[in-house]
Amino acid sequence: MSDVRHFRKVSDLSAKEIRLVLDDAARLKLEPRRDVLAGKTVALIFSKPSTRTRVSFSVGVYQLGGMPLFLGEKELQMRSSETIEDTARVLSRYVDAIVIRTFAQQDVDDLAASASVPVINALTDERHPCQALTDIFTFEECFPDPRGRTITYLGDGNNVAASLAIAGAMTGVNVCLSTPEGYDLPADMWAETQKAATAHGVRVWQERDPHTAVTGASALYTDVWISMGQAEDEEKLSALRPYAIDERLLEFASPHAVVMHCLPAHRGMEISDAVMDGARSVVFDQAENRLHVQKALLAFLLGADEC
Ligand code: CP
Repeated sequence: MSDVRHFRKVSDLSAKEIRLVLDDAARLKLEPRRDVLAGKTVALIFSKPSTRTRVSFSVGVYQLGGMPLFLGEKELQMRSSETIEDTARVLSRYVDAIVIRTFAQQDVDDLAASASVPVINALTDERHPCQALTDIFTFEECFPDPRGRTITYLGDGNNVAASLAIAGAMTGVNVCLSTPEGYDLPADMWAETQKAATAHGVRVWQERDPHTAVTGASALYTDVWISMGQAEDEEKLSALRPYAIDERLLEFASPHAVVMHCLPAHRGMEISDAVMDGARSVVFDQAENRLHVQKALLAFLLGADEC
């Protein structure tokens, strides 16, 4: 059981392994079919809604020759009638990998601790590592020599921001986090970003002023302000409004800067229609790239990568 590799968080892979996965994703983007999962089944446990993650994992497993098995959490007995640990042990007897989207990071960690097959975090309240790998892959498509460049994340200091900062640090990309007071990364996640930045010799820093934050950046990145399951909060929306990526903010950025969003987007809130549909937006490339990167990740974790 000890040599099973999981992807609970970005740093479950080394910087070198992230490089291998991203390079393989580029190959899979050119040649999508590969029989590395032939005869294998991948369980997809989702406790929250999803468009990109669910569909890209399902299609990706199929394109690699395997079978995706979607399991809405309510259809399982996990937590209601049996422990997460027992669910992990049972599923490990049937399937070759488990992808899980849930609320608490601890649930993913507990599942992985008892599973004898790879467990992949498809989003928790704390982390979104599959999204973060894809974000770096997309950034590298825009800037083939990304080292030393900066992605500026604007908005809520959430799971996407935290994983992006760690993935950036591990791939040589500086990350500026521009969040309003009260909506910074949680202290433990901030500490993790600083540790990664120091280890890899890059900068992850905070800049309160959104105009200063976008100056010199190669990408402006945002995410929804009210995450899944959160109630609409006028105080939060009001604090975040100056951080919206619209045409006026884009004028402060370099002419070469691209715009990123992990989607789903609330058009007219964190991003304007004109920016999202504009020439500098790469948001739909980002969405597509979830497919290629997750396939490379599956191939790597299941020991079938071509690296
Ligand atoms: N970005 C992302 O994870 O999208 P979904 O919520 O649609 O999976």
